[in-house]
Amino acid sequence: MKILVVGKGGREHALIKTLLASPSQPEVYCFPGSDAISEIAKPTSATDLPSLISWMKGNAIDLCVAGEESYLVKDEGLANLCAENDIPCWGPNKHAAQLEASKNFAKEFMFRHDIPTGTSQLVHSYEQALTAIDGNYPTVLKFDGLAAGKGVAVCPDADSANAFLTEVFEDRRFGEGSLLVEEYLEGPEVSIFAAVSDSASFIFTPARDYKLIGEGDTGANTGGMGAVAGRQILEPELMQRIEDEIVTPTINGMVQDGFGYKGFLYFGLMLTNAGPKIIEYNCRFGDPECQAVMPLITGDFANFCLGGANGKLDPAHLQFSEKWSVCVILASHGYPETSRADDVISGLDDLSDTAQLFHAGTKLNLDKEWATNGGRVLAVVSQGDSREEAVAAAHAEADKVSFDGMQRRRDIGILNF
Ligand code: AMP
Ligand code: GLY
Repeated sequence: MKILVVGKGGREHALIKTLLASPSQPEVYCFPGSDAISEIAKPTSATDLPSLISWMKGNAIDLCVAGEESYLVKDEGLANLCAENDIPCWGPNKHAAQLEASKNFAKEFMFRHDIPTGTSQLVHSYEQALTAIDGNYPTVLKFDGLAAGKGVAVCPDADSANAFLTEVFEDRRFGEGSLLVEEYLEGPEVSIFAAVSDSASFIFTPARDYKLIGEGDTGANTGGMGAVAGRQILEPELMQRIEDEIVTPTINGMVQDGFGYKGFLYFGLMLTNAGPKIIEYNCRFGDPECQAVMPLITGDFANFCLGGANGKLDPAHLQFSEKWSVCVILASHGYPETSRADDVISGLDDLSDTAQLFHAGTKLNLDKEWATNGGRVLAVVSQGDSREEAVAAAHAEADKVSFDGMQRRRDIGILNF
């Protein structure tokens, strides 16, 4: 089986390693990939989405796996173009991917199907936003489009709201678009991942990510500074409630609306006093949750994804470890506002065989040393029979790696338990 994975980050590095471990022994290619990914997956000659589609056709690719979201809504949409060319795709079509690309589309879907989420109002100007907020703080402001994780502001007061509204409506930092003013929800967050193939779905090991840059959940929002995954994150009763109140109604709603969804669907949930509520849908696996969850999987992940893409989702292909898994992100100087390239990374050879290392923003420099090349640089991951064991192992491994300006949270897997 020949598989093409779309993406270039730590999530794709983890997906590819798991695909390669499949007993069906797939041949894996990656676009656009990275230096680290090209050590395990072959590159393509594609330069953009149209050339990627012709490349896949010309190279008899059996399955396209969408890692990152951007290509799902680019041009005609990755999955739509694959469908036109008879290439099975594990990733949703452009219409279904609006669940992530448009916050308003997702809200209307949730309201239509009675899926628990915060109340919200769509506004088109600074003035309308202030009217919708109506002096109620904290408030949550969400730009209605893909904004690389930067389009959401949780505003404790008028000053922070005004600053974000200026960015959205005056500086047009995210381009043209409207804004959702959303009810502020309180509670622990959890990330639920379902593999979805039309009306069939299968829930993977739940995870939590740590989104803020600073220890104790302080400072700016990031793409994620670490994650913890484990079946035991949620009591069985709560997991059942999430399935009954959130996952199943979402799948049924998508079937009713004729979405034809195929691929991973990520439910970002807030466990509020009034029950679990959706913060957001993402049409892909989480990053860095994927790096924590993938090492818990054994079995034929390649055939699992191929089956799902062909409308035959078969969970029997996979087994899930009952262990805990902790992923620590090492980020570069200046992240998340900026990032710094060319800081040489040391200690990678010292990692234990039991740990996993996934590259996110790295490159090989002219001296063939690994160097930083982005905001989130590396994910160091370890497992344990208990959360404490997994935490101790992951942090001990992360201690071995260093580079100038490295940022890292030492409370990953510890805070909020
Ligand atoms: P997002 O960029 O959509 O992943 O949102 C970033 C973070 O903002 C989430 O992980 C939450 O911590 C927070 N957030 C989003 N929506 C809400 C909400 N309605 N209430 C409270 N916090 C929220
Ligand atoms: N972990 C957050 C995300 O993937 O969007």
